[in-house]
Amino acid sequence: MSGAKHTINDRIEQLREQIREHEHRYYVLDQPLISDFEFDQLMRELQQLEHENPELITRDSPTQRVGGEPAKEFPTLKFSRPMLSLENAYSEDELKDWTRRVVQLAKTEKVDYVAELKIDGLSVSLIYGNGLLSKAVTRGDGRTGEVVTGNVRTIRSIPLRLHEDVSVEIRGEIFLSLKAFRQLNDEREQAGESRFANPRNAAAGSLRQLDPSIAATRPLDFYGYSIFPTLPLQSENLKWITKLGLKVNPHRKLCRSVEEILDFYRHWEEQRDDLDYEIDGVVVKVNSVEIQEKLGSTSKSPRWAIAVKFRARQATTKLLNIRVQVGRTGALTPVAVLEPVQLGGTTIRNATLHNEDEIERLGLQINDRVLLERGGDVIPKIVSVIEQAADRRAFQMPSRCPVCGGEVYRPEGEAVRRCLSQTCPAKLKESLLHWASRKAMKIDGLGERLVDQLVEKSLVRDVSGLYRLSQEQLEGLERMGPKSAENLLRQIDASRSLEFWRLLFGLGIRHVGERTAQILAKHFGSMQRLQNASQEELEQVYEVGPKLAESIYRFLKQPENRELIEKLEAAGLPMKSDDFVPPEMAQVFEGKTFVLTGTLEGMTREEATSIIEHRGGRVSSSISKKTNFVLVGRDAGSKLDKARKLGVQILDEQQFRTML
Ligand code: IVH
Repeated sequence: MSGAKHTINDRIEQLREQIREHEHRYYVLDQPLISDFEFDQLMRELQQLEHENPELITRDSPTQRVGGEPAKEFPTLKFSRPMLSLENAYSEDELKDWTRRVVQLAKTEKVDYVAELKIDGLSVSLIYGNGLLSKAVTRGDGRTGEVVTGNVRTIRSIPLRLHEDVSVEIRGEIFLSLKAFRQLNDEREQAGESRFANPRNAAAGSLRQLDPSIAATRPLDFYGYSIFPTLPLQSENLKWITKLGLKVNPHRKLCRSVEEILDFYRHWEEQRDDLDYEIDGVVVKVNSVEIQEKLGSTSKSPRWAIAVKFRARQATTKLLNIRVQVGRTGALTPVAVLEPVQLGGTTIRNATLHNEDEIERLGLQINDRVLLERGGDVIPKIVSVIEQAADRRAFQMPSRCPVCGGEVYRPEGEAVRRCLSQTCPAKLKESLLHWASRKAMKIDGLGERLVDQLVEKSLVRDVSGLYRLSQEQLEGLERMGPKSAENLLRQIDASRSLEFWRLLFGLGIRHVGERTAQILAKHFGSMQRLQNASQEELEQVYEVGPKLAESIYRFLKQPENRELIEKLEAAGLPMKSDDFVPPEMAQVFEGKTFVLTGTLEGMTREEATSIIEHRGGRVSSSISKKTNFVLVGRDAGSKLDKARKLGVQILDEQQFRTML
């Protein structure tokens, strides 16, 4: 390696070390030392150096979490040590029986246990060779698993390089926090996709994505619970996993008696709702590995561990009726009306039924007794029919909209019927609430009660109507004083200066979620360009598939929607993006390398870098013969001299601007 390369490599290694340390502090310890901005700066510098010196990129570099092509399918791998499952105990008595058996088989008086939480996720095995993550494998059938390394590499709490250069296998549970689960489901709903039933399914779906870049957008997390080779005690194993840089669930207890295990179990059955992830019980393990080996395993599960399951958050009740709600997209959703029942501390009166196929699948009729379950979702669901009622009545989806009486249509291949009326008040109410939501136009004061009144009194006929409301009109509504009317008008007015993508999202085009709206806004830059785009042009946008392209295209072609957009424009709403780069300009710096030196007057270095990169160029930190331009500001130093020596073209800020 030449001298210069040597110092670059040193800097790269130094950056990697720092980034690893900060990732560990942030994702594993939850004790960040620096701001997100500072972290991004380190990451960008590393990316830049690796970009300029691709031969120095290593697989364990923090920049290499997402990489590689989407897989066609996952290869399988046979475990050298099977991934066993656990036997379950469903009561305190069953647990006591188990401890008695353990003591008997172990032929010792004194057995210590480690009680851990049973995380409701998916088990994986992480294989590290000389400290580097080489493979991640799902449990599969326990003998053979699927290799999902690409996806697991995107989990930020799993280090690509351990704190020690050891070869170990670490097993543990991959899961999704409740917060992440609810957010993911909300996004899916907004995009017209189906919700995941619970965090476990969502985690499984994410881990089984063939494209790691999709998995990377799902904030999966990990807690380790076993390591091989093993130390003499499970409690020591857990500490060792932590020492190597992974997460171990902090809620665990060394128990010296069955009473202590029961205390832990009762505590967590009581407190499980305080956690931001789902647990379904407590796992009790014999602490001594020597005793574990003495006890051995059956073909399915070890005799030295047991899962003590919590009582399921289930209840039975009677289905009194099925009501039909109409959503923003006109979707008719059946909702179960239940005889009120207690479930995990709250009274449940309703449960979603999603669509008519779901009712058929459950074989559900009115008056039946049903089994309810509350998973990670806030709204409980009906799992099955427990008992068919003698006086049961079959439910029929209405053939007309229950709110406006409009025509209802179920497109082929879809599970959902929709109200076709453009003026359906139910659709309008939902559209207004969506428009006002935090991710769209942030009109906090516009809640359900107000929307009901605005629609029922015909003060608003579409979202543009909000921008014509007057103080007097608002003051005339229930629970609306002059102050709150004024506040609301101020919020409505403020929404005029928000970003264009929010408006695109707020329009509620089917399948267009927040992220898609941002992509579209950036790509097309204005409503006009978007409206002029053909379906093919839409499909060419990165991340826009045919289904989405068709939905956007149709929406924008509909005369009512065009009219609405005109009215919104007239009301002063944003119809253009600020960060848009027109395509004809986009590639003026294609393939060109810039070096920046000195202080620029009219822009920061970051801005200059972004301008160059947006137009196809790149910015390097050192000058070579391959550099095309040096952009010089005030007090430029040695780089300017070097540029002159090498005969690289020198630009001042004015010349640079002219080139733009
Ligand atoms: S130990 C041989 N510890 O529960 C012992 N499992 O059927 C292997 N799980 O497949 C498991 N939290 O996915 C263990 N603290 C914990 C756990 C845990 C969750 C899962 C794991 C396993 C299943 C048991």
